[in-house]
Amino acid sequence: MRSFLFPIVLLCLLVTPAKASQQQAAVAMPDTFSAAVAESILQRGGNAVDAAIAAQFALAVTLPEAGNIGGGGFMLIHRDGQQYFLDYREMAPGAATRDMYLDEQGEVIPDASIYGILASGVPGTVRGMWEAHQRHGTLEWAELVQPAVDLAEKGFPVPEPLARYARSYAKRMEGKDPAINFGRYFGSMEAGAVFRQPELAATLRRIRDEGADGFYRGKTAKLIADFMRSHRGLITEADLAAYEARWREPIAVDWRGYRIVSASPPSSGGIAVAQWLKIYDRALARLGEKPAHNSAEYVHLLAEAGKRVFADRAEYLGDPDFHQVPVSALLEGEYIARRSAELDLAGISPTPAIVPGLPESEETTHFSIVDRWGNAVSNTTTINLGFGSGVVVEGAGFLLNDEMDDFSAKPGVANFFGAMGGEANEIRPHKRMLSSMSPTIVMEGGDIRMVTGSPGGTTIITSVYQSILNVIEFGMDAQRAIDTPRFHHQLWPKDQIRYQPGLDSAVVNDLEGMGYQLNERGFGDLQVIVNRNGRLEAASQSSGRGDSRVFASEALPEAGQAPQPVGAETGG
Ligand code: GLY
Repeated sequence: MRSFLFPIVLLCLLVTPAKASQQQAAVAMPDTFSAAVAESILQRGGNAVDAAIAAQFALAVTLPEAGNIGGGGFMLIHRDGQQYFLDYREMAPGAATRDMYLDEQGEVIPDASIYGILASGVPGTVRGMWEAHQRHGTLEWAELVQPAVDLAEKGFPVPEPLARYARSYAKRMEGKDPAINFGRYFGSMEAGAVFRQPELAATLRRIRDEGADGFYRGKTAKLIADFMRSHRGLITEADLAAYEARWREPIAVDWRGYRIVSASPPSSGGIAVAQWLKIYDRALARLGEKPAHNSAEYVHLLAEAGKRVFADRAEYLGDPDFHQVPVSALLEGEYIARRSAELDLAGISPTPAIVPGLPESEETTHFSIVDRWGNAVSNTTTINLGFGSGVVVEGAGFLLNDEMDDFSAKPGVANFFGAMGGEANEIRPHKRMLSSMSPTIVMEGGDIRMVTGSPGGTTIITSVYQSILNVIEFGMDAQRAIDTPRFHHQLWPKDQIRYQPGLDSAVVNDLEGMGYQLNERGFGDLQVIVNRNGRLEAASQSSGRGDSRVFASEALPEAGQAPQPVGAETGG
């Protein structure tokens, strides 16, 4: 009987596109250390959120240019059919003021919001991971922090690009703000040599043993506040104790039968990606046919649409706790139709005429995870530019962010990413600065179709948007979708298109002929997981040092025996 049934069962397994969620797990991570940590947590029975928390702490050790406990980010979770969005973005210190980066003449002081002691917002990462664990974690907190403790204590072999980057950054920081002590901590990194971080290991042990209080209260908080006081910085123990991560409604829109779920304000990313997808469809209807992928017509179409998206970003988006963001108005059908009708499909719309329509080295890092139950995490985290403010908290061993540059220091003056802003994103005490981080999940029916995200300042929006088009509109597999050249236009600087190496030179010539200025410079580090007919594909952008893996799950628990959240068990 058994020998009779076996071939039939085997045949069924081969021809039935079983739900990926029940057979496979996948991680797409920005480095190989975090990939190993995330995989091992999933193989031990942890869910996608457990793996994300462990990976976030590991990245704080092995990817110091962007992984962090001194910064913030956004985590988008798909769990048991529901989506949850966690905002752990940094907040301005209580003593911050609107004009804190202006001199007596009202001009922006160069670099003050980018390097040194005044550049940092109050970090949100540890509180964010704690909140995620309370609500969705299933393994013990200490078990998730331990891999990072080990990596900091025992060390890890430094990848060559990191060693090169750290040494050149240390050199560039010489002679800047005296609080910048980056060189002392990271300037000795040698390719292939084991790099240990004992102060960071001690901080991570406090976080492991005391939870979020191991960072926001007690010894770590005192080290941060003392260091700030001694260098005339602004972050106080009261700021740290008051920091809150927030659960918010994600942006969720229907597009071509898919559900696009992404980051809500204080990120601009979800609204921007959703607007861009919807305007694209309306414009296609006007054109009558789809332009070829990466043709001049296609690049121009996306640039025309992008002009409107970035004009709205500059005017309307900011921290929703301080400023009313007109989310539904920006995504509403008639508004999208009106914006699409404004596109000049043949020539370039004059930049100054594009006004809002209603009455990084760009570091940051992203990872995507899908577990055996079909849960997913799309997490983007940042200390803003590479190595943040360049300031390491002495005694605590971690880099602080330079996220204050994501505020608008003065209306009409661009920040590092060339992004403009006004009142919606002006500095106020305890306010969160506007972000472009766009962790996104594309749903099809109740299942995941794609998990995507990238670093890159304002180019994040472009990378995420074009990764979705490449998979859904052009049918590319995960690797091709993220390695095919992308291009970025964000309204200002006027008529400039930045593009990745590999864009056809005839297309570049055609676009220059239309009046665009083309600028070849790579961007982004997409980490995506795609579900293609029930099989998972995971891919890391080839230009980075990412590591993506799809692996068979261990024995499946019986239905209904998926682990329960720790928070639910403890009533937390
Ligand atoms: N720091 C980059 C961003 O949040 O957009």
